[in-house]
Amino acid sequence: MAFQVLLLPGDGIGPEVIAPARQALQQVARHCRLELHLDHALIGGAALDASGVPLPAATLEQARRADALLLGAVGGPRWDRVELERRPERGLLQLRSQLALFGNLRPVRMSPHLVAASPLKDAVVRDTDLLIVRELTGGLYFGEPRGVRKLPGGEREGFNSYVYRESEIRRIGLLALDMAAARQGRLCSVDKANVLEVTMLWREVMEELAASRPGLSLEHLYVDNAAMQLVQAPRRFDVIVTGNLFGDVLSDLAAALAGSIGMLPSASLGEGGRGLYEPCHGAAPDLAGQDRANPLAAVLSVALLLRHSLGCPEGAVAVEEAVEQVLAKGLRTEDIHRPGSRQVGTCQMGEAVLEELESVLAGTPPSGKAP
Ligand code: IPM
Ligand code: MG
Repeated sequence: MAFQVLLLPGDGIGPEVIAPARQALQQVARHCRLELHLDHALIGGAALDASGVPLPAATLEQARRADALLLGAVGGPRWDRVELERRPERGLLQLRSQLALFGNLRPVRMSPHLVAASPLKDAVVRDTDLLIVRELTGGLYFGEPRGVRKLPGGEREGFNSYVYRESEIRRIGLLALDMAAARQGRLCSVDKANVLEVTMLWREVMEELAASRPGLSLEHLYVDNAAMQLVQAPRRFDVIVTGNLFGDVLSDLAAALAGSIGMLPSASLGEGGRGLYEPCHGAAPDLAGQDRANPLAAVLSVALLLRHSLGCPEGAVAVEEAVEQVLAKGLRTEDIHRPGSRQVGTCQMGEAVLEELESVLAGTPPSGKAP
């Protein structure tokens, strides 16, 4: 089986973290006999500079043909003054929306080797292992009407619309239930149903869906309470399902539970197997070009890509295992560095993972899909 994978390094630290991630993907593909066709395209600020728009038609065209996309990051202060429609972030939002990648999976796992790196107490974060399922193509990010208007007195008013259709809630709810079924069977739906009508509907639909899955448990939390519970008792969570904006905020908060946002991968899935895989950390322009970024979130995104789009779970496990081994050996980029560990740059961390991956793969039977 041949797979088309589109690489979108983007801006800031994107290209630096995508380099080792791409190599990890190629290493697994060789071992598991996956035929990969890798292509590159521009997105975000890089595309804006080259062609005047953050998502060129050519990139979208290539994206539609791809089985999976691996993205670095978009954005940076250079483009802060660009109008909203042409900002680098718009490129990413358009791509998610155009490909209907509605289901954003953000696994948050505290490695036993990184407990000391978390700003939270050891006893709180130890053994954290949860999955945030964030709706990605609706809600406040996309609701209409939106804009800034002048009121009769001359004062300006900004407005956005928080809108979810039943069908949108249903499809993200079903994805989250499936994820819960493959884990510990506990789903927590996060809303603000004490105030917002749209999330009252969200809650109702989640209830209806869960009624047909008797093996799974469903609880509801208001988003303010969920934020507190995440830092107080993260082990109470298995799978969290929530809307676009709440998911954006809660996933950055949950990054502290994994030691650093530099550890958080993500998968954005549509109907069918296509997915967009990206680290959650963003472009981090203050670190760009200095060999200071943590490439592990990008490498772990490759594991998700192998699992969800290439049907290669053993390759995914090998990548995750390689990352764990490197952490066990004490190598740390500066974001997860603590006294006693060995601080390395992006390149050295990448090389260490690739070396470890080679030996993990050597002990993994090459049972991937044959070409
Ligand atoms: C994320 C990012 C994006 C988002 C930005 C870059 C548009 O923060 O993926 O979490 O808000 O979705
Ligand atoms: Mg975010």
